[in-house]
Amino acid sequence: MPASPPPPTARPDLTGRADIELLVNTFYEKVRADALLGFIFNDVAGTDWSTHLPKMYAFWETMIFRAGTYTGNPLAAHARLVPLTAMGRPQFDRWLALFTATVDGLFAGEKAEHIKSAASDMANVIHAKINGVEQDRYDYSKLTPEQRARYASYKPPVVQP
Ligand code: HEM
Repeated sequence: MPASPPPPTARPDLTGRADIELLVNTFYEKVRADALLGFIFNDVAGTDWSTHLPKMYAFWETMIFRAGTYTGNPLAAHARLVPLTAMGRPQFDRWLALFTATVDGLFAGEKAEHIKSAASDMANVIHAKINGVEQDRYDYSKLTPEQRARYASYKPPVVQP
């Protein structure tokens, strides 16, 4: 029998940078070993893990704890892969399945739920935008007030001239 994750009560919630690093490291170990996704990083993009992993710590720390340490362009990073390899729904579904399983294996609580829903929304938006298709799993009009407030806060601040 495969090992099941520990019960929610035995798992802590994400509390800060160290937890983000553990989550990201564990997640990309799975991604690198995955038949559908691993070669995209290792062979297609030629990813330098010593720079990609710290970038992803900053990305998730900024998304979940408002750290403000990430600057980058996630859409462009994925759009450039589209002519080179399959970046369709199967790839994004696998990415999300691995991400969700990693979170659930390590953490439980409000931040754990938040990071899974943020990952799901981002995957749906990135998939739709880079492939030029309708956002079939992401409908802004169906967001809860809490989600609207959260996503509004992700927008970069308006710089006054
Ligand atoms: C099919 C699924 C995905 C694949 C195959 C994929 C692959 C990649 C690759 C190859 C890179 C570039 C790494 C390098 O610098 O060499 C990258 C960057 C990145 N990915 Fe993904 N990704 C996927 C989904 C996602 C999702 C759903 C998110 C967000 C929730 C995400 C967030 C990022 C971010 C933040 C970067 C760094 C962009 C930058 O600032 O340069 N990725 N991804």
